[in-house]
Amino acid sequence: MADDLCLFAKDSLNLKPQKKNPLVLRMVVLIFAMVCGVYICSVCLKQIGGKTTERLLNVQVLERPCDATNIEPSEKPYVHFPKPKTFSRDECACNPVRYFAILSTQRSGSGWFETLLNSHINISSNGEIFSVKVRRSNMSTIVETLDKLYNLDWLTSASKNECTAAVGLKWMLNQGLIQHHKEIIEYFNAKGVSAIFLFRRNLLRRMVSILANSYDQNAKLLNGTHKSHVHSPHEAAILASYKPTLNTTLLIPNLKQVDDLVTKSLEYFKSTRHIILYYEDIIKNRTKLVDVQDFLRVPQRDLNSRQVKIHKGSLSSQVDNWEDIKKTLKGTHYESFLYEDYKL
Ligand SMILES: *[C@@H]1O[C@H](CO)[C@@H](O)[C@H](O)[C@H]1NC(C)=O
Ligand SMILES: *[C@@H]1O[C@H](CO)[C@@H](O)[C@H](O)[C@H]1NC(C)=O
Ligand SMILES: *[C@@H]1O[C@H](CO)[C@@H](O)[C@H](O)[C@H]1NC(C)=O
Ligand SMILES: *[C@@H]1O[C@H](CO)[C@@H](O)[C@H](O)[C@H]1NC(C)=O
Ligand SMILES: *[C@@H]1O[C@H](CO)[C@@H](O)[C@H](O)[C@H]1NC(C)=O
Repeated sequence: MADDLCLFAKDSLNLKPQKKNPLVLRMVVLIFAMVCGVYICSVCLKQIGGKTTERLLNVQVLERPCDATNIEPSEKPYVHFPKPKTFSRDECACNPVRYFAILSTQRSGSGWFETLLNSHINISSNGEIFSVKVRRSNMSTIVETLDKLYNLDWLTSASKNECTAAVGLKWMLNQGLIQHHKEIIEYFNAKGVSAIFLFRRNLLRRMVSILANSYDQNAKLLNGTHKSHVHSPHEAAILASYKPTLNTTLLIPNLKQVDDLVTKSLEYFKSTRHIILYYEDIIKNRTKLVDVQDFLRVPQRDLNSRQVKIHKGSLSSQVDNWEDIKKTLKGTHYESFLYEDYKL
């Protein structure tokens, strides 16, 4: 059948000139060419037209830049409009997001401080992400982790998702922060990450807290469960019942080591946008939390935490060898730690 048609077409083409009717043939060819031309043109136009509108739509839906005109020029390096891969920011897609990192040392109230921040509807602080060693094995894993966090793709119980206005983490100085400080500072300055330093003024009390916490890792005083933070006065009293003995030979070198580490970190990170807070100051003066919210440029709210302080009252009642400790620190740079006190 196909062959027949072909033959027929050939025949007709061959036959026509033989019939000496060139005018009809020319007309047929001309009309055919015109129809083809019009058809091809219309198809082309349709495709070009389609592509253009598609591209325009893409620009409008996916790449519409957020309006940052009413953000102060000095604030612009710190403002971001992340486009998370894991969810859509919906109505808050154009709410500016700021990046922060709480830089601290263990047992300095950073766990408590973080629960306070996370009680704010627009703040998401995602914990000690770098306590997991592989994430801090080298600068590329650190950058990869931070990029994911700051793009709002780090999903933890602290994630607030679409209407987050400040996103960050808790980062201990000994979790690669000092080791890779040069590259991390470069990252902070390039991405506009703000640093919140949180330290404890009384390093002697911090030492007692560390010893008690590490004792509890084995002793598990609360019905066989180790807890670093507690939510009831009853639990706090049980944990505080353990009174550590401080090694007086190591006391001053240990205090000095932490002191130096803190000084070094402040010196290293001074070029970043930062705020310096002390645990004792926040306990005494809750207005400090207003400073933090201003620093993060989030709306002011009352922040609260369910955590209960474990060690309270005088230091002398919290350790086993108070007299030795007193003798060791008397007349040193650290003597004030013996007497500094605060009430809740
Ligand atoms: C960084 O560490 C990761 C995980 O340990 C490893 O897979 C990767 O090869 C390392 N990259 C470099 C550049 O060292
Ligand atoms: C804070 O969160 C609320 C509720 O999700 C949202 O309506 C508001 O726009 C957010 N504020 C900022 C500054 O992003
Ligand atoms: C330990 O368990 C007992 C019995 O379940 C309970 O009464 C007690 O309050 C628990 N103690 C603590 C510190 O959680
Ligand atoms: C204190 O630490 C030093 C150095 O590690 C050690 O030699 C000494 O035995 C310790 N003292 C006590 C009482 O544990
Ligand atoms: C409490 O903190 C605020 C903000 O940092 C400060 O202005 C104020 O003087 C402090 N008040 C006291 C009593 O220290």
